[in-house]
Amino acid sequence: MSKPVTRTVRIDGDTARAANRENWDDRVALHVDAYGLEAFDDAEHLSDVVRADAAALEPFLADGFEGIELCHLQCHIGTDTLSFARLGARVTGVDFSAPALEAAAALASRLLLDADWVQTDVLDAAAGIDRTFDVVYTSIGAICWLDDLDRWAAQVVALLRPGGVFYIRDGHPVLYALDETRDELVLRYRYFDTGEAQAWDDDSTYAGDGTVAHSRTYEWPHPLSAIVNALIGAGLRIRLLDEGRTLPWRFSPRMVEVDGDYAWPEAERDLVPCTFTIVATMD
Ligand SMILES: C[S@@+](CC[C@H](N)C(=O)[O-])C[C@H]1O[C@@H](n2cnc3c(N)ncnc32)[C@H](O)[C@@H]1O
Repeated sequence: MSKPVTRTVRIDGDTARAANRENWDDRVALHVDAYGLEAFDDAEHLSDVVRADAAALEPFLADGFEGIELCHLQCHIGTDTLSFARLGARVTGVDFSAPALEAAAALASRLLLDADWVQTDVLDAAAGIDRTFDVVYTSIGAICWLDDLDRWAAQVVALLRPGGVFYIRDGHPVLYALDETRDELVLRYRYFDTGEAQAWDDDSTYAGDGTVAHSRTYEWPHPLSAIVNALIGAGLRIRLLDEGRTLPWRFSPRMVEVDGDYAWPEAERDLVPCTFTIVATMD
């Protein structure tokens, strides 16, 4: 496997997201093998991500998850979406990768869980999904793939009904600015958004040892202020902003396992955040 290479580029969003989609399509078969899907054969099993997020989200729901309509943006192969279905939600998973949604639908059918799957670029989601939801949810490795947060926040608002709740937990922009290859915490990448993308040539993925044919991807850094202000600007009211010390994937080889998640070694754990969580509502 070759070493990942990265550089800063100026590229139009449509071209960049088309390249990202080819890369994500390639990752699906690898992730179906590496995500531990057999654990879901236990009817009580929930993904670790949803176990954490459901606890954080539930205080904002009047009557818990039973019967709520939940839209999961960037749902990938459906493990988190179907975990919400197991909590009683009526779920719709949204992703631009057709193979990801095929894998999600196959998992749903194997587990006898109801779910709808919609293939669309999340930046066009409102046009592709002609209805609204009680909860719009997205998590863990989502908005770094998006070049336009105002357009993204407008989709979230269009998908929420009045009184609806938006929830995001994602990698913290300060974490993403760190050099994942170094033996100490060293800043390497831009924190601030200049409109330019970070281009990567990397044939590996975060789960499993396989490689992808389409190794070029584009990511965009978004400072925390830009994320919060995109949601406020779209008309949402921020109800919670939280920052976490652990995350569900090994960002750096130096990270250690903590309760099924990953974190910096204990002496560094209070130095930088790993995730942020935002809960916002549509009044
Ligand atoms: C890191 S995964 C999300 C992971 C999810 N938390 C999980 O582990 O199952 C990112 C997902 O975003 C999707 N994605 C990336 N850019 C997108 C876009 N512009 N529109 C829709 N989906 C997109 C990819 O296809 C992929 O399924």
